[in-house]
Amino acid sequence: MNDSIVLNIPVEYRKIKEASDELQFNMASDLLTGSLLKTLAASKPSGRLLELGTGTGLATAWIVAGMDANSSLVTVENNELLIEVARKNINDSRVEFVLTDGYEWLKNYDGEKFDFIFADAMPGKYDLFEETINLLNSGGLYIIDDMLPQPNWPEGHDKKAEAFIQQLEERNDLLVTKLNWSTGIMIVVKK
Ligand SMILES: C[S@@+](CC[C@H](N)C(=O)[O-])C[C@H]1O[C@@H](n2cnc3c(N)ncnc32)[C@H](O)[C@@H]1O
Repeated sequence: MNDSIVLNIPVEYRKIKEASDELQFNMASDLLTGSLLKTLAASKPSGRLLELGTGTGLATAWIVAGMDANSSLVTVENNELLIEVARKNINDSRVEFVLTDGYEWLKNYDGEKFDFIFADAMPGKYDLFEETINLLNSGGLYIIDDMLPQPNWPEGHDKKAEAFIQQLEERNDLLVTKLNWSTGIMIVVKK
């Protein structure tokens, strides 16, 4: 099996990648993670999906490509320049782009819970984890990437990542699988 062959890349991908390169935005999720997100999004028909940290929308495009017609996605980003690239290129009424601070959004959100959360920003991952996991339905998926050392990790981030992984593993309301693949993925299901 050759996992470097990634098929069915979303149509929006090329334009978003070009715009990301122009903005020197280099924090995008990789193709393998994108493919996994698409597959897992498809496992939630009529699902309510949440992405924290839209960036320029590369992962968003993959998630949307996996969603069925009755699914919806809320995606939250605090950088206007980045989210505008996503909004411009992903023209889809199932997607709500929210330009706001993820900390504030997580503290104030009081709508319906979600079936799938891709947490790709500090809020929702290393910060406000409890608030985030409380937004997940039973049987819902919580997915994170970048759990293997990354070139852009600041000093001390390795210890933070280690502690977070342990925190997830110690909880008895969560089922956790770690993948030493792509940038290091954790797939978590809430009981
Ligand atoms: C790792 S990048 C996400 C990349 C994205 N998944 C993609 O594939 O393009 C993290 C994103 O979180 C955003 N972010 C950082 N702090 C935030 C906050 N407090 N609220 C909302 N978004 C935040 C950053 O601007 C950045 O775009």
